[in-house]
Amino acid sequence: MLKNFWYAVEFSEAVGRRPRKVTCLGQDFVLWRRRDGQVACLSDLCVHRGGALSLGTVIEDRVVCPYHGWEYEPDGGCVKIPANPPGRGIPKKARIDSYPVVEKYGMVWTFLGDLPEEERPPIPYIPQHDDPAFRVIHWETTLEANYERALENVVDAAHTPFVHGTAFGNPDKPEIPDYEITQTDWYAEADILLNPPPPKGLWGMLAKARIDPVIVTNGWYLPNIVKLHVRLPFGDLILYDFNIPVSQNRTHVKILGYRNFFTGKWADANAAKRITRIFEQDRLVVESQRPELLPFDLSAELHLRSDALQVTYRRRRQQLIDRGWWVGGDDIVTGDVPRREATVIASPARRDNPDLARAWVHKTRGESLNEPAHSAE
Ligand code: FES
Ligand SMILES: [Fe+2]
Repeated sequence: MLKNFWYAVEFSEAVGRRPRKVTCLGQDFVLWRRRDGQVACLSDLCVHRGGALSLGTVIEDRVVCPYHGWEYEPDGGCVKIPANPPGRGIPKKARIDSYPVVEKYGMVWTFLGDLPEEERPPIPYIPQHDDPAFRVIHWETTLEANYERALENVVDAAHTPFVHGTAFGNPDKPEIPDYEITQTDWYAEADILLNPPPPKGLWGMLAKARIDPVIVTNGWYLPNIVKLHVRLPFGDLILYDFNIPVSQNRTHVKILGYRNFFTGKWADANAAKRITRIFEQDRLVVESQRPELLPFDLSAELHLRSDALQVTYRRRRQQLIDRGWWVGGDDIVTGDVPRREATVIASPARRDNPDLARAWVHKTRGESLNEPAHSAE
């Protein structure tokens, strides 16, 4: 799992004045909306006795721990300790990691890492979002599988005729012609020629049984987003899948599904039903893949020309691992294993203020270059 990226962790409509827990990179976070409408994000781990702030309440702009009532500002600083008699100060160590937040495309994005603003990888550009020709639906599920297996599945065109042979794949035309990849540091995509069968149901009536080859654009955006752009005879369907790594083997999948046909609300349920049907076909294979985690060594699996997009992903991932952005293995906080030590993703405040970082109670996770030395003395 990669830190130092913006992660879309929740749909905007799910975050209000009540604390809301989200999990990403094996760490729990608490989100809440301040009075000015902005969303705050803290590590969901009180430094006093490890209470979950997400079970607490919000007073004004502060989140209140449910256990002993300590109050934390959105910047992570504790400003009230009810057990202290009046006049007793707040210890400097009473501070929680606070993560930058922006809202974009109807989602709450948090920056999970300590890079300064100018060094942060970009949030992907979604041109359909502000285009009035498109309507969007929100869809989500939980997958009992690794997020990279889920990501690779979506950019993998060759599985379509087999896994989706009854939906939009065509088992009679399984060949994938060689394709060209457009790549930058943060994304890669390719136009791939597929031969789908004629669509069925409501969409089939519009398609007039045409069976021309169609160009499908598959792409990945680091760290966890995949795009699937399907050109149907009557319009465009563009899915952005956010594969949120809850832990190494559980993924929350959130989808923004854009379409420029049947743009009335009445067709939303039908569009969602189609995503569900396709997704359930993928779920069967992705949850059964072994090894569960994507190998680090390229030669551990066999790659064909038609797997080129996945190979670009694995190569780029390796570069970021070499840069120290990987979080995994023993770093995981949540899960079934009891631990004696809680660790968190380092937030930007630790880098900005090394004194503060040394005083921090919770240790950090992942070895990032230039990361301040951690630990609580
Ligand atoms: S555990 Fe949060 S106030 Fe004690
Ligand atoms: Fe699929």
